[in-house]
Amino acid sequence: MSDVIVVRCRENGPLVLPAGRVRIVDHQGNEFPLPPGKDNIALCRCGQSQTKPFCDGSHRACGFQGANLAPAP
Ligand code: FES
Repeated sequence: MSDVIVVRCRENGPLVLPAGRVRIVDHQGNEFPLPPGKDNIALCRCGQSQTKPFCDGSHRACGFQGANLAPAP
C-alpha cells in the first residue's frame, strides 16, 4: 500500500478518497462519522449537497460541470 493518498476528481461530480485512510474533520478538528461499509468517501465540490462535506448526489440535479484535466506530465 502506498503512503500517497490519491484524491480523484470525478467528472462533473465529487472528490473521491479511499475510506479507511483518511479522517474528515470540521473546522474545530472534530471528526465526521464516515458512512459505514463503503470503500470510498465522496466529498462535495458542487456546493449543493445537503450533507456537506459529503456528496449526496445533488451535483447531478444542479448540472455541476467539473471536468478539468491535470496538465500532461
Ligand atoms: S459533488 Fe455531489 S452533491 Fe456536490
